[in-house]
Amino acid sequence: MRIIVKENYEEMSKTAASVVKSQIVLHPDCVLGCATGGTPLGLYRELVKAYQNGDLDFSEACFFNLDEYRDLDPANNQSYAHYMKENFFDHINADPDRIHIPDGMAEDVDAECRRYDADIARHGGIDLQILGIGVNGHIGFNEPNAHFCPDTHKVVLDDSTIEANARYFSSMAEVPTEAITMGIRPILQSKTLLLLANGENKAEAVRSALRGPICPELPASILQLHPNVIIVLDREAARNL
Ligand code: GLP
Repeated sequence: MRIIVKENYEEMSKTAASVVKSQIVLHPDCVLGCATGGTPLGLYRELVKAYQNGDLDFSEACFFNLDEYRDLDPANNQSYAHYMKENFFDHINADPDRIHIPDGMAEDVDAECRRYDADIARHGGIDLQILGIGVNGHIGFNEPNAHFCPDTHKVVLDDSTIEANARYFSSMAEVPTEAITMGIRPILQSKTLLLLANGENKAEAVRSALRGPICPELPASILQLHPNVIIVLDREAARNL
């Protein structure tokens, strides 16, 4: 596990972007696992800048997102499908046929989850998975639980997650309470994991994930078992290490 601590959010984003840039330059046809949330916004900005400068070509890359809210139309500006278009895909030369996001509107959730896992497997798994971390230690929407869920699955969001995500919605009542998330298996089977965290409110989750026992009550702790993890933190998120 390589832990890189940078002075601030901007430096964290630039360092994380350099990892993704190398991946795309060395393996243009790679499978990139994408995360949402506030944390990777700076990373996506850096990647868009590099594309606009002519330094990156995403046309052969394939994208799999970690998660999507249940019952939010992709056109809803709070859906993760919308987030990805607005912050990344609409500004690069990503091939729409190579963009994969769980369908939060699927009537048959179980079938959708099986389809998503089969799609990931058909593409040979994920080469580089970008991850954020929730204040409760979740990765994707793998919430604290009595066991690790290996497959893509429907999840009922934790109260702390709903509270943390409420800042993006105009009222608490609008915050979705369920989601579809990639399970732990495809995350752990990714060749490289790139976890980003910034801010004081992530410091305890980061400490527990990296230094605490490996347990499903702190899902990110499973990353300790992965042979190739890059953690990029700002100083505040690293303060308890
Ligand atoms: C969200 C996402 C995660 C993200 C995490 C942290 O709800 N499902 O993929 O990593 O919670 O979000 P943020 O970066 O906004 O703190």
